[in-house]
Amino acid sequence: MEIDLIVIGPASVKLGSRLAAESSLEAVAVEHKTFPDGESYIRINGDVSGKRVLAVQSTYPPQDRHLMQLYLIIDALKDLGAERVYAAVPYLAYARQDGRFRPGEAVSVNTVIKLLEALRVDGFITFNIHKQASMEAFHIPALNLSAMPAIGAYVKELDAWRPLVAAPDEGAVSLAREAAEALNAEYTWFEKRRDRLTGRVETSYRKLDVKGRDVLIVDDIVSTGSTIANVAQMVKAQGARRVLVGCVHALLAENALERMKAAGVDLLLGTDTVEGPVSQVSVASLLLEGLRRIV
Ligand code: R5P
Repeated sequence: MEIDLIVIGPASVKLGSRLAAESSLEAVAVEHKTFPDGESYIRINGDVSGKRVLAVQSTYPPQDRHLMQLYLIIDALKDLGAERVYAAVPYLAYARQDGRFRPGEAVSVNTVIKLLEALRVDGFITFNIHKQASMEAFHIPALNLSAMPAIGAYVKELDAWRPLVAAPDEGAVSLAREAAEALNAEYTWFEKRRDRLTGRVETSYRKLDVKGRDVLIVDDIVSTGSTIANVAQMVKAQGARRVLVGCVHALLAENALERMKAAGVDLLLGTDTVEGPVSQVSVASLLLEGLRRIV
């Protein structure tokens, strides 16, 4: 692979170490701190001059801090003479605002992409960006990978009983299809509406054949857990044996874990695109495979 070393950002320490271990590439740590007034400090702890570098830094909450750290890392690497800088941003923050839904709104995914390109990053990789169409804003080699095959493979080991895979809204149907293929199972989906002002989520009722079966609900993001809770409650009330949730980016805002547990979720699986309490599934191998396509 045409990469000389991996620079491990503060938000992706575990994933960065897995990438280094799996690829046998040299790893360079990033020293970081927050000044008393809240500003971020970054120091690249190694020689990157003339090197082809993969910088790994996710941007899960606190998004603004992790994004600023990412920008500082990329700019420092360029400034220190790295020959090429590829950015792996396993969770790309601000991607859900991918359009102007109300007049005057900032289209934040485009702002983030413009800033990355202004810093002269040479290539970009992410996982399950909220909408594939957002990738069209890039002018550099950029790849959006799916972590669902890794989640599907993990769930397969759990011996789910007559599993049914469910997407909580139409946007997640392709994820449900991917997981269902990995599990050799059926899939279905629900209809969801979100009030753009209050953020409240409503899911239309559906009667399903789930009695005594395991249901795997899949989504790209779990934020407040309301989307998942609505579906979990419905399938548990219809007699589902276990409710498993496989999500790529477990952001877990507010009291998401309690909300989902109260709704009947038995197990929540997330990936290491977000380093947190449920990041059991690693995307390291998928990322290294993807990297070969853009370097
Ligand atoms: C939105 O369409 C996303 O795919 C997720 O369904 C959403 O972000 C989940 O948010 P929450 O957990 O707050 O319901």
